[in-house]
Amino acid sequence: MKRIVVTGGLGFIGSHTVVELQNEGFEVIIIDDLSNSSIEVLDRITSITGIAPAFEKIDLKNQGAIQNFFKKHQKIDGIIHFAASKAVGESVEKPLKYYHNNISSLIYLLEEMAVNGIEHFIFSSSCTVYGKADKMPINESAPFKTATSPYGNTKQIGEEILADTAKVTDLRAISLRYFNPIGAHESAKIGELPIGVPQNLIPFITQTAVGVRDQLSVFGNDYDTPDGTAIRDYIHVVDLAKAHISAMKRLLKHSNKTSFEVFNIGTGKGYSVLEVIKAFEEVNNEKLNYKIVGRREGDVTTYYADTSYANDELDWQAELSLKDGLASAWKWQQSLFNK
Ligand code: UFG
Repeated sequence: MKRIVVTGGLGFIGSHTVVELQNEGFEVIIIDDLSNSSIEVLDRITSITGIAPAFEKIDLKNQGAIQNFFKKHQKIDGIIHFAASKAVGESVEKPLKYYHNNISSLIYLLEEMAVNGIEHFIFSSSCTVYGKADKMPINESAPFKTATSPYGNTKQIGEEILADTAKVTDLRAISLRYFNPIGAHESAKIGELPIGVPQNLIPFITQTAVGVRDQLSVFGNDYDTPDGTAIRDYIHVVDLAKAHISAMKRLLKHSNKTSFEVFNIGTGKGYSVLEVIKAFEEVNNEKLNYKIVGRREGDVTTYYADTSYANDELDWQAELSLKDGLASAWKWQQSLFNK
């Protein structure tokens, strides 16, 4: 049985990935500092899969704690690294928090992996590394543009650190560039837990529908798109989780072509904000209270992935639809409200 460490394994994408790893027969050890997650998620993962993952509460900015972790847990086959701060707006307000959290933790992990002879590493990246891209769909060879936030910059720097390190060490790394993750596990036992007022579209929609928020603001209807609202590529979190399993298997089989590879993880389809609202209303039979307001600063018009490289090389493709994502997000929101 292969043993995989998942940092940030109690977070939104991390918890879904732990479930899929366990479903595929991997042994999982979770590292999480609980700074943006709840320990309750551990029991919820266990109740879905019937297997309790090992858990260590560790802040990855503490290199000594990482050293102790690898003394205690040996024969690790690979690491999937989710642990990071991820709020774009907060990163503008607190850049040093983001550089410290996202970059120091990565460097310490890579240093300790080398000491312990661990070679396989999957990195959580984002389509934000492309910045204001020139053409859609975006493929992996599109250049990095100036990052629009410190958060985005940490993802660009993270990938550069991996590329440079993989050139001169035994590191074999894959970076997955996520488009917009949505949805929840079909059991409604795990999902996204936004703290405070959600910044992202889907949690804001579900909180509005359930009555926690009065009204959804649609940020701009004067974009150059068919209905004037911005277009994104919404990828179901369960599909996204499965992409990590495919990527880890590729490394474990040594099927990677170079020591550092990147893949877009999206559906390849773009939907406008109004299309998302309509799909939510249809699939859940709910009416959503929304109004059109001005554009949000920093938003781009259209973003969707060319996923052909991931489809061909990772033997993976998104199977769940936008409506699947919106139905599961709604089921999850309702289960939270009914607690
Ligand atoms: N939107 C609204 N109202 C809201 C929230 C969002 O109209 O209340 C719109 C946005 O303007 C955008 C779309 O819905 O057009 C999606 O917005 P999100 O905030 O959900 O997602 P973004 O595409 O802005 O951000 C996502 C990730 C970031 C990542 C970024 C890269 O959440 O982590 O993609 O472009 F950095």
